Amino acid sequence: MYVCLCRGITDTQIRKAVQAGSGEFRQLKQELEVGAQCGKCVRMTMEIIATELDKL
Ligand code: FES
Repeated sequence: MYVCLCRGITDTQIRKAVQAGSGEFRQLKQELEVGAQCGKCVRMTMEIIATELDKL
């Protein structure tokens, strides 16, 4: 599912990045550019990060 429509970033991409060690939003923003435009995806991205970190 697309999380960031502005940059075309999916939840799968975010989950994989977190599993690879990018556990902070700031890192994901640098790597994937998620949330780099309108910012509407930030909240959902933070929720995905938290869910993935809980699994680790
Ligand atoms: Fe992610 Fe706009 S939806 S920056």
